[in-house]
Amino acid sequence: MTTTSSAPGKVYLFGEHAVVYGEPAVPCAIERRASVTVTERGDDRVRVSASDLSLDGFTVEYAANGDGQPDVDVPTPLIEAAMGYVEEALAQARDAAGRPDAGFDVEIESAIPLGAGLGSSAAVAVAGIDAATRELGAALDPVDVADRAYRVEYEVQDGQASRADTFCSAMGGAVRVEGDDCATVDAPDLPFVVGYDGASHDTGELVAGVRALREEFDFAADTVEAIGDLVRRGEDALAAGDLDTLGRLMDFNHGLLSALGVSSRSLDSLVWAARDGGALGAKLTGAGGGGCIVALAEDAGVETALSLSPDCEESFRAALATEGVRAE
Ligand code: PMV
Repeated sequence: MTTTSSAPGKVYLFGEHAVVYGEPAVPCAIERRASVTVTERGDDRVRVSASDLSLDGFTVEYAANGDGQPDVDVPTPLIEAAMGYVEEALAQARDAAGRPDAGFDVEIESAIPLGAGLGSSAAVAVAGIDAATRELGAALDPVDVADRAYRVEYEVQDGQASRADTFCSAMGGAVRVEGDDCATVDAPDLPFVVGYDGASHDTGELVAGVRALREEFDFAADTVEAIGDLVRRGEDALAAGDLDTLGRLMDFNHGLLSALGVSSRSLDSLVWAARDGGALGAKLTGAGGGGCIVALAEDAGVETALSLSPDCEESFRAALATEGVRAE
């Protein structure tokens, strides 16, 4: 048998980083998906190939029981990181199905840039758990998939993970995450435009930087709390469908993230290109450092303004993905 599942990436409307310290965050799933195809093998080995991870294709083969090192033909840190998520996702599926020795051929296709703040690893973990579990004849509902995908991120990121990315990717739409409380929220079809500077970031390192700043300066801890206050205001604006206020709050959120040291010259320049192009608001999305910004813009000019910025590798409109994980 062969089983395929897909799951969406996400942008943070508000609240990244602060969510790590128990403040609420509102990530939104976007129509850029990762798809994982799983075929059970007759032995206990695992073979993973990826035709598009916004990198050259690669193939890895190793034993399911963890003996021996994976034989990676393109040993970049990003591929090693991607492999960690796949390996842990398969372990979750074996556990869910009660099949500790199951081996798999896995094929990943993803339209979500790696390490750029769009939740590529969460989408691969969510789709991988769903596909591998179904391939073994078991089934999980999306909330269980989200919980197991969170455990994957927690393992791979040494405990530095919130439930935001994985819950959002599994459920789709806009969600609210505060500590262990996760819920879907009603949202209008938000007109997101994404700008990508072509860089990738190390989420763990950026989270550690904010943690250190917060421990050193009380006002950095206050900044994290201010982001929480902003998110609560943002939730009211979202419920009211008030795009102007959402945009203003996104601008404010970017300023606070910048104060916490997680923006970069290119992210700032993309944020300003979007604002100059007429966006209602713009901010970095995800851990920062480099990667993507998200703007709120009904005006078609914003995508063009972004694409004309020398710091922009790619810009695209990204509709809110109402569907989370799904069988393909
Ligand atoms: O850049 P991403 O997609 O890894 O998002 C990280 C979001 C943080 O809030 C910084 C960390 C987390 O786990 O919530």
